[in-house]
Amino acid sequence: MAKLAVMGGTPVREKNRLFPAYNPIGEEEKTAVARVMDSGALSKYIGCWDPQFYGGPEVQAFEKEWAAKFGVKHAVAMNSATSGLIAAVGALGIEPGDEVIVSPYSMCISATAPLFYGAVPVFADVEPEYFCLDPKSIETVITPRTKAIIIVDLLGQSHDVDAISVIAKKHGLKVIADTAQAPSAIYKDKFAGTLSDIGIFSLNFHKHIHTGEGCLAVTNDDVLAERMQLIRNHAEAVVEDKGVANVVNMVGYNFRLTEIQAAIGREQLKKLDAFVGERLKNVAYIGERSQDMPGFRPTKSRPGTKHVYYMHAFLYDEKIAGVPRSTFFNALKAELAPSKLQEEEGVLMGEGYVKPIYLMPIFQKQIAFGSRGYPFRSEFYTGTPRYEKGMCPVVERLNEKELITHDLMRPGMAQEDLDDVIDAFHKVYEHREELL
Ligand SMILES: Cc1ncc(COP(=O)(O)O)c(C=O)c1O
Repeated sequence: MAKLAVMGGTPVREKNRLFPAYNPIGEEEKTAVARVMDSGALSKYIGCWDPQFYGGPEVQAFEKEWAAKFGVKHAVAMNSATSGLIAAVGALGIEPGDEVIVSPYSMCISATAPLFYGAVPVFADVEPEYFCLDPKSIETVITPRTKAIIIVDLLGQSHDVDAISVIAKKHGLKVIADTAQAPSAIYKDKFAGTLSDIGIFSLNFHKHIHTGEGCLAVTNDDVLAERMQLIRNHAEAVVEDKGVANVVNMVGYNFRLTEIQAAIGREQLKKLDAFVGERLKNVAYIGERSQDMPGFRPTKSRPGTKHVYYMHAFLYDEKIAGVPRSTFFNALKAELAPSKLQEEEGVLMGEGYVKPIYLMPIFQKQIAFGSRGYPFRSEFYTGTPRYEKGMCPVVERLNEKELITHDLMRPGMAQEDLDDVIDAFHKVYEHREELL
């Protein structure tokens, strides 16, 4: 096989042969947007107790359709999963002095949402094979202050719902599932995100289906649904007239999704299964042809679940492969090309996923709201926050040494595109010793 690109050889995929764009938006979405534009009502919300407190016809139809598809009682549309997670924490009644167990391996809001209500995030470690919060690690960080767990269905795969439910029940904890990356993932015949007190889906530009920005928060609990609707839309101006007695955390935001976004979302939802099906097909193709590289292997999915592959991950073992991960990874990237519409991001591959969240400055400095350390230090909080390097060894090992992720299995990749990805894996693997 030819010389490695990183050593001056010809890459498997020349940089000017971009991989196909992932663009799930089509004519149906354009027609839906035109329908809303023609109506002139781009958002119909009113921030007081009025029939329009719940938004306009597109938002309400989208919520009904999402709830029906996922088999839940309520879906509350919001303008981002960031907003959705904040609203979920508020709806649960989390307050200053409480602790919420969070994942260090996620997009940061999965861990920072409790801060908005004065609660302290407590990090547990993740599972080495599936990257969701590890139930065993969760048990070691529960204290009398723990009120909830925010668990992330990372990279498209459900967390261990049964194990987490047992812990939550035993300790009287609420569970928010951050299912931003896993719409229509399955855990034992049910949709991920629907098996917790609240589930949060994201519709941002990078997700399986999107509305530019957006979110659906789902729950089977009438009170939690109402509290999220209130936080979404100026709760403080609504509670009195609506007759809501519990005003804890009833300070609202404007977390509202527009009619245009909802109209797009309704069309996107119809396409979700087909897009997921294509991801599964592409991952299966890459996975089957990548089993012969000891030390570099596609990750497994949890038994009894359906993974929907927001990203596809490999586990790298430097001792077996014989070269450091970064050397291998840089050689791999040099063999491949960026994707259309995302040229500036380079080849869509990552060493690890994100830096463990507790290593971010807000946790290292313990400065979030104001300059005096609130909520890490306050008259309400009786614990001692821990955010030191080394506290979650599995996530640090995954991120520093073991994990390689890529997006080159998204819908739109033709077989010859997937073959280039697979050829690049093999080329670098077979020539890896030349890299030393
Ligand atoms: C796991 C996870 N949670 C939450 C979010 C936040 O989503 P949004 O961009 O819709 O606010 C993201 C976004 O990437 C995510 O991946």
